[in-house]
Amino acid sequence: MCGIIGYIGMQKASTILIEGLKSLEYRGYDSVGIATLDHGRIRIRKNIGMVSEVADSLKFEEMEGTIGIGHTRWATHGVVSEENAHPHFGKSEKIAAVHNGVIENFAELREEMKDHRFRSETDSELIPHLIEEHLDGSFIDAFIKSLKKLEGSYAVVAVDAAEEKLYLARKNSPLVIGIGKGEMFCASDIPAMLKHTRQFVPLEEGDIAILTRESYQIFNHDGKTVIRKPITVKWSMEQAQKSGFPHFMLKEIHEQKHTVSESLAANVDKAKKLIENHERIDIVACGTSYHAGLMLAYLLSKKGKNAHAYIASDYPFIAKPDEKTLMVAISQSGETADILQAIKAKSSGKIAITNAVGSSIARICDATIYMNAGPEVGVAATKTFTAQLAIVFRLAYEKVPEPGNLIETMLSKEDEIRKIAEKLSKKEHAFFLARGSNVPIAYEGSLKFKEITYIHSEAYPAGELKHGTLSLVTEGTPVIALAPKDETTAKLLGNIKETKARGATVISLTNDANVKKESDYVIDIPVVDARLYPLALAIPLQLLAYHVSVLRGINPDRPRNLAKSVTVE
Ligand code: F6R
Repeated sequence: MCGIIGYIGMQKASTILIEGLKSLEYRGYDSVGIATLDHGRIRIRKNIGMVSEVADSLKFEEMEGTIGIGHTRWATHGVVSEENAHPHFGKSEKIAAVHNGVIENFAELREEMKDHRFRSETDSELIPHLIEEHLDGSFIDAFIKSLKKLEGSYAVVAVDAAEEKLYLARKNSPLVIGIGKGEMFCASDIPAMLKHTRQFVPLEEGDIAILTRESYQIFNHDGKTVIRKPITVKWSMEQAQKSGFPHFMLKEIHEQKHTVSESLAANVDKAKKLIENHERIDIVACGTSYHAGLMLAYLLSKKGKNAHAYIASDYPFIAKPDEKTLMVAISQSGETADILQAIKAKSSGKIAITNAVGSSIARICDATIYMNAGPEVGVAATKTFTAQLAIVFRLAYEKVPEPGNLIETMLSKEDEIRKIAEKLSKKEHAFFLARGSNVPIAYEGSLKFKEITYIHSEAYPAGELKHGTLSLVTEGTPVIALAPKDETTAKLLGNIKETKARGATVISLTNDANVKKESDYVIDIPVVDARLYPLALAIPLQLLAYHVSVLRGINPDRPRNLAKSVTVE
């Protein structure tokens, strides 16, 4: 949500900022802007719209200067408008800043600065004003004094017309420095800088930094220098781009033929020991990651652990870890605010499962398992979900059954899935049914489906149907049954028949002859170790959602109202 990019070097800043902003688009935004510093003067151009549209219409490329900051805004305080877009000037036009996060005490602070004319309704505009208010010595002193006044969350990058430097700060909102040769970058995440460097320093909570062309310096709030070691990232630019696929989501679905094995090879030793040594395990996550959490809870419960998965945003209201509880946070981005809030609770230990090296969640936890899925740009999680499943299997099973070419086999069904998608694309509702350990996959299939097709869908443990939902099943209602042959098939078959008797169109993912007989459409699942079925089922459901989305003329990479990284509660 919201994206920041900053540059200081010898190249034309505007070009680098536009490129960076484009690669941040997946985070979700409604307006765009950049500021460049040229011969001691800061110029800002910004407006509502997509990066390319705004950059073209406002001629960003014509903005001179080798220092600049850019921002994609996703409205929180104040409507979507040109005035509310970032960057913002301070009282004069000598300081400009971009901000991600929420300043909770902004109303009081604005009240204190009655003589300042604010041009926007945002909490963010307050930041350059505050800096200017405190500016009676060095910029860094004024910057630190201002940050101390802020309550809430922020990633801030500020530029001062009088200096060739960028000033950075982070608190509960990600910000990463990119190290180049004679140039420095900063951005909300690594892919925005990958074209230029592989060396990064993710800022930690409370870090304040100064970038010059040649150096970066990091301080704490007392102005004391802190040392942060750079990390080297192996992702290629190609990995972070579409590689010929029409959408990132489809590319990322296909990448699973490599990523699942990478994730299965993740180092889980420390986390596994922690799990062995704890009886009570509280898993916190949101959305897709919550479904992986449900799978972990289910498999650990089967082993006799007291394991529960909680929606992170509700965890503080319904559960409290004690000194013997192990917490597991699952988050592809590692920056989800609801999870960061949930894992603040005191516990005996914390495990992070994340795809983001150096992310906030990774840093807070005692043991971090990296998913190794590479950058995921599509808003809908796909390869990071199967990465999470792979890690869940590693944590729960003594030895994970070898998937062989299971993923390739499931991906090879895309043409038949597209045909089924044609039937579904005109429907208004869909139901996903499963039993046992396939239920979290039904939830995930349904979430993916509604998220990018805008068709209403629900998922149920099939036994629940007759306790209410069956009343919604009428002639032609699509029922997607996850029914590979396992211990649940006989009962699930009974549920499928119940829907069929009421006119449902049954699409089954199965290898069971009796289920096939009851189905209008079948996606064949190969016979494998039943423990691998969740993995096998997840992939056709992603493809189904993707193709229905495209057939309905939706861009699956950027579903409306959603953002890739949800950094506000
Ligand atoms: C859905 C999706 C979201 C995320 C959720 C949590 O496709 O991607 O539901 O799973 O916002 O995000 P992370 O895993 O980054 O904590």
